[in-house]
Order: sequence, then C-alpha cells, then structure tokens
Amino acid sequence: MASTQTASLQGNAPTKNAELLAWVAKMAQMTQPDSIVWCDGSEEEKKRFTELAVKEGILIPLNQQKRPGCYLHRSNPNDVARVEHLTFICTTNKEDAGPTNNWMEPEAAYTKLTHLFTGAMKGRTMYVVPYVMGPLGSPFAKIGVELTDSVYVALNMRIMTRMGKAALDMLGDSNDFNRGLHSTGDLNPDRRFICHFPQDNTIWSIGSGYGGNVLLGKKCLALRIGSYLGEQEGWLAEHMLILGVTSPKGETTYVAAAFPSACGKTNFAMMIPPKEYAGWKIETVGDDIAWMRTGPDGRLWAINPEAGYFGVAPGTNSKSNPNAMACVAKDTIFTNVAMTADGDVWWEGMDGEVPEELTDWQGRPWKKGSTEKAAHPNSRFTAPASNNPVLSPKANDPMGVPISALIFGGRRSNTVPLVIQAFNWTHGVFLGATMGSETTAAATGKVGVVRRDPMAMLPFCGYHMGDYLQHWLDMQKNIAHPPKIFQVNWFRQDKNGKFIWPGFGDNMRVLEWIVNRVHGRVPTEETLLGWVPRADQGLNLKGLDLSPEAVAEVTSIKEDEWKTELKSQEPFFESLGLKAPEALTLQRKLLISRLGS
Ligand code: GTP
Ligand code: MN
Ligand code: MN
Repeated sequence: MASTQTASLQGNAPTKNAELLAWVAKMAQMTQPDSIVWCDGSEEEKKRFTELAVKEGILIPLNQQKRPGCYLHRSNPNDVARVEHLTFICTTNKEDAGPTNNWMEPEAAYTKLTHLFTGAMKGRTMYVVPYVMGPLGSPFAKIGVELTDSVYVALNMRIMTRMGKAALDMLGDSNDFNRGLHSTGDLNPDRRFICHFPQDNTIWSIGSGYGGNVLLGKKCLALRIGSYLGEQEGWLAEHMLILGVTSPKGETTYVAAAFPSACGKTNFAMMIPPKEYAGWKIETVGDDIAWMRTGPDGRLWAINPEAGYFGVAPGTNSKSNPNAMACVAKDTIFTNVAMTADGDVWWEGMDGEVPEELTDWQGRPWKKGSTEKAAHPNSRFTAPASNNPVLSPKANDPMGVPISALIFGGRRSNTVPLVIQAFNWTHGVFLGATMGSETTAAATGKVGVVRRDPMAMLPFCGYHMGDYLQHWLDMQKNIAHPPKIFQVNWFRQDKNGKFIWPGFGDNMRVLEWIVNRVHGRVPTEETLLGWVPRADQGLNLKGLDLSPEAVAEVTSIKEDEWKTELKSQEPFFESLGLKAPEALTLQRKLLISRLGS
C-alpha cells in the first residue's frame, strides 16, 4: 500500500503506536469511511461533536436553563435493548463458551461479519475512540480502542470511560489493547451481531445503536472479555456495585453487591439512609461493574472500571433515588425518554403530576391517560460520575477499595429471606451460583418465572459458566483475608402481591447488620441456610413502619419452599455437565439431606 494511502486510512493520528496504526488502517480499508477522526477527549471536541450531532438530528437539545448541557437521543424503535440472542462468544472450541452463551466459530464469525462490515462506513466518519477502563494509572486498568461510525457512541464513551489522549498516553507503544469495531450498519435486526473474540481481545458489533450493544467498554469489554481475562489472570470481573458505608464513628467499610439487571444496583449504590441513621454516610464507588483482585495485604480490592452511569430512567425520582436525580441535572445524554412541552425530560415514575401533554420516546404527541408509555421502559441516562453528590473520594483511586463483604441478591417474591450470611467462602459461592430472579411480568398475579442468574452474570459471563464458578471457588486460595459473603432479597411479597420490605433507604438496616457481622460485633442464629439476624440483637428496626408479623414473614425460612427451590436448581447444575464444580454439587446435596425429603 502506498504511504499516502496508508495515511488517508489512518486519519490525522496522534500516536506512533505501530500496531494501533496498522489495525486502524486495516479496519478502515474494510469499512471504507469518508474520513477518520481520532478522539482526544477535550472540551473543544465535545462541543464540536455535540453541534454536529444536533445538526444531524442525532441529539435534540433540551431546555438549557432547566438541564444545562443535556440532550435527548431517540434510537430506532427496533433497537432499544441489549440483544442476548444476537450476542456471541467466538472461541475455537464451542465447549469454552459453555451452555449459557451463543457460540460461533471465530473464522466463521469473522467471515460473516467482514461481509457486513465491508463498505459499512461509506459516506460516514470513523471515530477512533481510545479509552481506559479503570482509574488512570491503575494497575487494574485495561485499555480499549473502539472504532465507531456513531458520534452518539463517541459522546457516550466520553462520559462512561476515561477517553482520548489520556488513553493513548497510557497505551504508549504497547499492543495490549482491546480492539473494538462498531458500525450502526443498516439497523436491520437480521444483520445485527455482537461478537466477542476473547482469544484475540477483539469485539465486533454491527447493526445496533443501543448502549449495551455499542458502548463496547461496558458489558462487552468490562464483563464478557473481562471475565475471560479474569480467569486467565486470576481476578474477578463482576456485575456488581461498589459502595462505602461510613459509621458515625468514622469507620468506613466497602461492600460489593451483585443484583441482576433492573434489580436495584444503582439504587443501592446511591442509597440515602433513613433518618434514624443520622451521621451515617453511603458513598458510591460504582453502580454496575467491579473488577476485583487480591492486594498485597491479602484482601480483595475492587475498582469500578467505569467513569459514568448508564442508568434506567423510569422509576427514578427524588424519593426513590435523589442522588440519581442530581446525577442527571446537567451534562447528561438521555436515550428514549419523553420530552415535556418546555423541553425538559419525563418518564414514568418521575416526581410530580403527570404532564397533560408530552412528546413520547418515538417523537409522537402523547396525552395524559394514554395506554402507551411515554418513555420506553428501558430508557436510560448517561451521566458523569462526577455529578454524583455522594461519589466516593476513592472512586478514582488507582488501587481501588478493600472489599469486606460480597452481597448477592435477586428478585424473589418468596423463598429467599431478607438476609443470610454464608457459613464460608464455598457456601457463599453456592449462594451466588444458585441465585434466581423472577421475570417481572406478573400481571396475572401468578408467581414470576424464576430464571437462574448465577452471580447476576448470566448474560455477561464470557466463558463456560462451570469454569467461571470453579474460578470463584479457586479464588479463595489467593485471598488470605476473604470478604464475608451474604445473600439478600428486597422483593419478598405478601399474599396480596405487595412488597413486604420497604426497601430503598431502609436497606441500610440490612447493610448495618452486614457491617456488624463483618467486624464480628453481633451474634447470629444458625439456620439450615446460613446465619441470620437474631430476633434480639439483630436488625435495627427502630422507626420502621412494619408489623412484627411482617418482619417475621420477610425473614422466614420455609422448608417446603426450600425443597421446591433445591429441586428447581437441578436443571441448572445438569446444564453444566461435567463442569459443574463438585464443591457446589456437594453443597446442594448437603442441604437436601439436611432438609430431608
Ligand atoms: P442495570 O443498571 O440494568 O444493571 O440495573 P440495576 O440493578 O442498576 O437496577 P436499578 O437500580 O435501576 O433498579 C431498578 C428497579 O429496581 C426499579 O424498578 C426500582 O424501583 C427497583 N428497586 C430498587 N431498589 C429496590 C428496593 O429496595 N425495593 C424494591 N421493592 N424495589 C427496588
Ligand atoms: Mn447492569
Ligand atoms: Mn444500574
């Protein structure tokens, strides 16, 4: 290739990294963009991209008095969520992807997608987005470069990651970076694929413009590729929030918690404790992803690889999550929410009266009382973490924070009590591995369908689920002072289908017990399932508006429900085949024998 042609295939590259330059040229040769723009992450660039996006109708400016720096994006109505059935793990051996992932053979996948990517960026600009997942300079951090033809993606990556010059500086001459390629394509779902090549540290995504499919640093790199790297390198990439809780005495304890999508991570990470907890403080390190490895002190240390929040909008209001409302007050990109007559945002479950008239998420007029939702149920906000009033001072610490407790929680209308402490690491891994969560469409009043979602990682584990669980068990050997493990359930219902536990801020009461257990301060009661709070010296229920019967119900362990539960875990263990870790199948047998049949 003539050198001038190579130059035109690399744009005005601000790097001398030969591997990176060669790869960009190769991808440009395939996708054939009109021009190539290298992102530097500057304010000037943000302004330029935003103006361009507004001119092209990709972003709609919101009322700048009410929401300074905020914009609305409407995605294609056929492209509003992650697509698990179009998401593939491409490893040489099918066995390595395991029973919970879609698999494609790498060569076949590259061939198929090369066909779709050829000429896909004709008439478009290719943005080269270098980014860091993790605090700058952190030994835990990973570098990625995403090539995308979407200015919306470039602007979102700017919020969600440390993007631009800083990433190129950190990369230097190294070839250790994730190669991400994204094209919006023609948005036809028949030509939509999100393919991961863990062996090549590569991600190719085409045909979508929606968050989890296209912001490649998030679910694709930080979880799917991340979990794969974690197994190879001896660490954990998890779908977990990280928070610090500080007592009035000034003692800070860090916990990480895995709840499945839409089960309360963002809420818990930004929780405001009830008035009985004056002097206590909750601070957010992360709201969705944790990367954890053993520190020199033998404890488990965690960083949040992200720099922003890609949160669910509906249901967020100044009662349920005031800190999230503060996060979206400025410099936020909203996707698929409704717009008010004066150019502000609105979604179902926001504060105040429902407006008489709105523009719905598809840009159509909407009237109060309409049976259709004004905002899409999966509408989202992309907000910088620096907007968060309770952002932890450790959020940018390269070493992260030491984790004292790991918490697993699903959405269960019955069976699982409010809180249990695992007997030990192996038992805790069993609790996480057997996590279930209910599908929420319970309109008929029927009990929701329980889907097994081990560690809340079902859609995000980038390799064989059995190997993943074994990796969790093996991690114990590397951690001299492992965190204590807990299981929680905020979603138990009464006979009328109402949530018994008030949840949200009142989850502080459970968190306080967890903190006390971690520091060995409160006695417990042993049950079949684990340790639970004692009726005396247990949960602090002062000021809680809940009858003693309701407390008993929400903490109850019913043997018949547990017999059903253990039975319902069987297909999951069977699906793992020979890779079902023996330490976990033995835990299950032990529990079955203790319960009797
Ligand atoms: P992703 O960002 O998709 O991974 O989900 P997430 O885990 O961050 O979920 P989020 O915090 O956005 O949870 C949203 C849903 O959980 C909303 O419907 C909330 O109302 C509900 N929720 C959160 N905390 C509680 C709680 O303590 N009790 C009850 N009943 N509902 C809760
Ligand atoms: Mn998530
Ligand atoms: Mn969230």
